Amino acid sequence: MNTAELIARKASGAALDPSEIRGVLAGFTAGNVAPEQMSALLMAVRWRGMTVAELSAWTGAMVDSGDRLDLSSVRAPVVDKHSSGGVGDKVSLIVAPLVASFGIAVPKLSGRGLGHSGGTLDKLESIPGWSGTVSAEDFLAQLDAVGAVIAGASASLAPADKKLYALRDVTGTVESIPLIASSIMSKKIAGGAGAVLLDVKVGSGAFMPSVDPARELARAMVDLGTAAGVRTVCLLTSMEAPLGRAVGNALEVAEAVEVLQGGGPPDLIALCVAVADEMLALGGSERSSAAALQEGSAYALWERMIGAQGGDPSAPLPQAPHVREVRAGASGVLTSLDARAVGNASWRLGAGRAAPGDDVAASAGVLLRAQVGEQILAGDVLLELHAEDADRLDAGEHALESAWSIGDTAPPPTPLILEKLS
Ligand code: URA
Repeated sequence: MNTAELIARKASGAALDPSEIRGVLAGFTAGNVAPEQMSALLMAVRWRGMTVAELSAWTGAMVDSGDRLDLSSVRAPVVDKHSSGGVGDKVSLIVAPLVASFGIAVPKLSGRGLGHSGGTLDKLESIPGWSGTVSAEDFLAQLDAVGAVIAGASASLAPADKKLYALRDVTGTVESIPLIASSIMSKKIAGGAGAVLLDVKVGSGAFMPSVDPARELARAMVDLGTAAGVRTVCLLTSMEAPLGRAVGNALEVAEAVEVLQGGGPPDLIALCVAVADEMLALGGSERSSAAALQEGSAYALWERMIGAQGGDPSAPLPQAPHVREVRAGASGVLTSLDARAVGNASWRLGAGRAAPGDDVAASAGVLLRAQVGEQILAGDVLLELHAEDADRLDAGEHALESAWSIGDTAPPPTPLILEKLS
């Protein structure tokens, strides 16, 4: 294989053969294709896109770069879930035990946050004792006995993706629909579940700012999953404003527990029910999860899921020593609250990391004391900024300048679920 010639061909707009794609990805994973050559190829892909055949070969090569989880020992139907990431998105924490409480197993391999959107592992690590490092043996045993596991992916699952993502991150090639689709779906296919529910976020706080590219990404992922024998459904959901009232690691865990115990904000409850019901349907159940949430009956499963990974679900969560209130300057209706600005504020307050491997502050983040559509009076507290380090409060507040608007009339309600693809 002449890698330089292959890069030039892709850059000129020609399609590569599946065998060439498999060769170059296997070579890169083994260290035989240089990072500078792979960087050039990634940029050519970002520029030219990929045909269906190229994307299928690319994704298959990423799956084949490592192990596939064998979930055949799990007696229940198995349904996985993935979110493209948003601000205040703690849905996985809620739906994993919720869906498992209906007898459908949920193996959720999660990652850490980078930038303005938080990572599920970072959130759960705010629970004293909890660990997301689970051996393959314990993963299978917990999935079978408890029904839900949320853990970090082992290094042997789609290792090509880990190498490629690190390169994409520093070469301006993250934002390519085929590269995102293959990255996400290679991990889902290698994860071994027979079905997967995808939640692609759309809006200011998401990877995808508008519906058209989000639909294109969703279509590509549903087709890749289906072609690999994984029943795949994708919801496009709004991420213009933060989801729920809590943004930040321990703050989001507390809100997830509130929802599992029958409380919580209506937007978060509505999305959890929509996602859980799609997962139940994928698992062969016609039941709805709404009553289980209202009755708090899935909380017992949360306790077992957290306890199985060393966590103490009854231990107090870390509390920030420094809290600053931000007040409304005028009376009226909160007409907008920008998700990305709130995510950036939470990040600046210490809840997120600037580089892989940085520590995160468990108790840092933003609490919304009002959500879009609510009536407020001048002087009311709109937001609480939580920080472990008082020096971060100014940066958090600065990130929120111009983040909201107050008007005379409530905006028309924007639907949370925008579209469903299957
Ligand atoms: N999430 C992933 O796992 N991969 C991407 O490329 C983008 C988001």
